[in-house]
Amino acid sequence: MRPADLTRRKQGGLPITMLTAWDALSAAVVAGAGVDAVLVGDSLAMVVLGHATTLPVTLEEMLHHCRAAGRGLAAAAPQHPPLLICDLPFLSYQCGADAAVAAAGRVLKETPAVAVKLEGAEPETLAVIDRMVRSGIPVMGHLGLTPQSVHQLGYRRQAGDPISQERLRRRALALQEAGCFALVIEHVPAELASELSAALVIPVIGIGAGDGCDGQVRVTADLLGLTSRQPPFSPPLMQGRALAVEVLGRWVKEQGPASTPAPAPAPATRPASPAAPHC
Ligand code: KIV
Ligand code: NA
Repeated sequence: MRPADLTRRKQGGLPITMLTAWDALSAAVVAGAGVDAVLVGDSLAMVVLGHATTLPVTLEEMLHHCRAAGRGLAAAAPQHPPLLICDLPFLSYQCGADAAVAAAGRVLKETPAVAVKLEGAEPETLAVIDRMVRSGIPVMGHLGLTPQSVHQLGYRRQAGDPISQERLRRRALALQEAGCFALVIEHVPAELASELSAALVIPVIGIGAGDGCDGQVRVTADLLGLTSRQPPFSPPLMQGRALAVEVLGRWVKEQGPASTPAPAPAPATRPASPAAPHC
């Protein structure tokens, strides 16, 4: 899989699937499921590193996890590995174009990922994307709910009114113009996401953006029910955490009396909340 293959799938009317991975184990699982693309998302800051937001994860940490995911893909799908994409973390691409190109370049030089993803479409971000693309670095965009701006946007649905919808249309077109090969669009009205999918040449990959996108992306740990709270627009397909606690608890009991009383199992989902904690 190469970035251009995603566009070919769009042109052929075939849906695109992308799931996140954070290490060799999760990468092998999602490759086994047959996804087109694997994203080492900065959601790993929350999902596996235990941070409250995506902001603290460093470029070094992203590179470390991306290398592990790449090894998992190579072992699980040596013939036809999915496209591996790595998120650029907060402040790795906002401190000047040279530093941004150097950060994206490290992803391509030091990991098996073949593309980077970054958030937003501010003028500086567009200039940085243009530099990266002209340097040979494929870039995926990300609009709508952009968690690196959580302190400004919260985890609310975006583009709810006509003015912000028009702004999103302009920003999506600008990302395509700047050379992005695909665009993630998160937590926006379904009609707008469908409209953008039809209007853009590049694939639009949605999460919390309805069924009318060219593809869908999910945080794997959310789908498996491993996280303590899933965003309402990404419900779990199984209760993985509860299941794991149950079978492991059974194993512990089989070994003899427990030294500490087992805590009450955590609820698998958090009811109505500010939502979308990590993607
Ligand atoms: O970090 C992440 O997992 C993401 C996806 C939700 C698109 O950016
Ligand atoms: Na992300």
